[in-house]
Amino acid sequence: MLLGVNIDHIATLRNARGGVEPSVEKAAEIAEENGASSVTTHLREDRRHIKDEDVYSLISKLKTRLNLEMAMAEDIQKIALDIKPYSICLVPEKRQEITTEGGLDVAGQLDKVTEFIKPLLDKGIIVSLFIDPDEEQVKASAKTGAQFIELHTGTYSECYGYEEEEQEFQKLKKSAELAQSLGLQVNAGHGLNYENVHRMHEIQGLQELNIGHSIISRAVFTGLPEAVSKMNSLIK
Ligand code: PXP
Repeated sequence: MLLGVNIDHIATLRNARGGVEPSVEKAAEIAEENGASSVTTHLREDRRHIKDEDVYSLISKLKTRLNLEMAMAEDIQKIALDIKPYSICLVPEKRQEITTEGGLDVAGQLDKVTEFIKPLLDKGIIVSLFIDPDEEQVKASAKTGAQFIELHTGTYSECYGYEEEEQEFQKLKKSAELAQSLGLQVNAGHGLNYENVHRMHEIQGLQELNIGHSIISRAVFTGLPEAVSKMNSLIK
């Protein structure tokens, strides 16, 4: 199983001051040097974290793969066709949400999704659809021409350690099996952390996990002791 690291939070922190620190390119480089197989960024319609110039810069610097998360928006599609990331992951997007809530409704807009991803597939970009672990959504995804689905692990992650965990985990497992039987390759992500990630090993054939929040959160505390003592030594 491979790890894709989502670095959107680095851009959120940078944008808090409007400067260049911390650098998303540096974060991507560190992720790659430490075993990440790909780097994920979500170019949101409101550009609240990752900006256009970030994806242009990353595509020229990455040694691994860029996985571009995007909504079904024409201007973002234009950028994707221009930079040609290794893969895109189609996600639903609501302006008011804090992070991606729920999977894409592929079944309810099959023709629209199929049409939207066609130019991307024609350009040789791998397409993944971020969906809830739901039979109807998996079956619809298999009809679109996309090569991958990314199963939304958010509900499983929230239920981890509670009574509903098993039920939510089984939804992921069954959806992955169904998807693979229909010829789709399967990634997973959202809400995975250092406690709940181990159960992903119980799902046969999962290709890649896309993880952001828990990694960046941990990095703050693993990095803070050095950052404080370094500054202290400069001051004393
Ligand atoms: N996969 C998708 C499609 C996402 O939208 C996100 C969040 O941006 C992730 C994975 C990573 O989720 P988290 O930050 O909770 O690890």
